[in-house]
Amino acid sequence: MHKIIAIDGPASSGKTSLAKKLSKKLHAPILFSGKLYRAIAFEMIKKNIKISQSKKILKIINELNEDKLNNKNLFNSEIDRISSNIAAKPFVRNSLLKFQRIFPKKNLKNSKYVIIEGRDIGTIVFPDADFKIFVWADISIRAQRRYKQILKSDKKSSFNKVFADIVKRDNKDLNRKVAPLKPAENSVLLDTTYLDIEQSFNALKKIIFYGSRDFKSKSIFRV
Ligand code: DC
Repeated sequence: MHKIIAIDGPASSGKTSLAKKLSKKLHAPILFSGKLYRAIAFEMIKKNIKISQSKKILKIINELNEDKLNNKNLFNSEIDRISSNIAAKPFVRNSLLKFQRIFPKKNLKNSKYVIIEGRDIGTIVFPDADFKIFVWADISIRAQRRYKQILKSDKKSSFNKVFADIVKRDNKDLNRKVAPLKPAENSVLLDTTYLDIEQSFNALKKIIFYGSRDFKSKSIFRV
C-alpha cells in the first residue's frame, strides 16, 4: 500500500523546495495543489472571467489537466492575488477535491510514496495521510526569501511591496472561512525560520524516515 505525505504551509515557508527534494529522493509523484488554483486564475485572466462568474469558473475547473498545471506562466503577482481570492470560494475548493484525491491512484506507478503539497492537504484533502508536515517560518524571513527570488527576474522589485503582498496572502489564506491554512491536529510542525534548505531537508528526512511518530494521534509535534 502506498503512503501519502501531506506537506502544508504558508507562502515562501520552504514547503515547495522541500517537497521537490523529497520527491526526488523517494522517486515519488508530487502534486503542487497551489497550481490548481493558479491554473484557474491563469484561465480567468486569459478569458476575462470575473470571480462572480461561477459557472464559467466551474467550466475551467472541469477542463483542468496536467498540461495546464505545467504551464510555466503561473507565477506572477496577479496570479498570486487571484488564486488566493478564488481559493476562498467553497465551490472552487469542493470542485478541486476530486482532482486531488484521484491523483495518487492515477500517478503512483511503482512508487511507495506520493507527495501532495498545499494549504489544506492534511486537514481536508487527505485527513488520513500517513505523514503530515506543516512547514512554517516567520513572516519577515519568508518575505526576504520571496524578495530574493523575485529579484532574479525583476531587479526593480521592492522589499516593502513583497512584504505587504505576503501579509495580504497570509491574511486571506489563514482567515478564510473554508479550509483555512492551519496545522492539522496530528501534524509535525517544521519551523524553517533559522534553517537553510539543507538543514530543513535533514529535519524533514528525520520526520519521514526515523520518526517514531504516530500521525493518527491528535497532538501537534514540533521539530
Ligand atoms: O502554494 P501556492 O502559492 O502556489 O498557492 C497559490 C494559492 O492557492 C494560495 O494563495 C492559496 C491557494 N491554495 C489553497 O488555498 N489551497 C491549497 N491546497 C493550495 C493553494
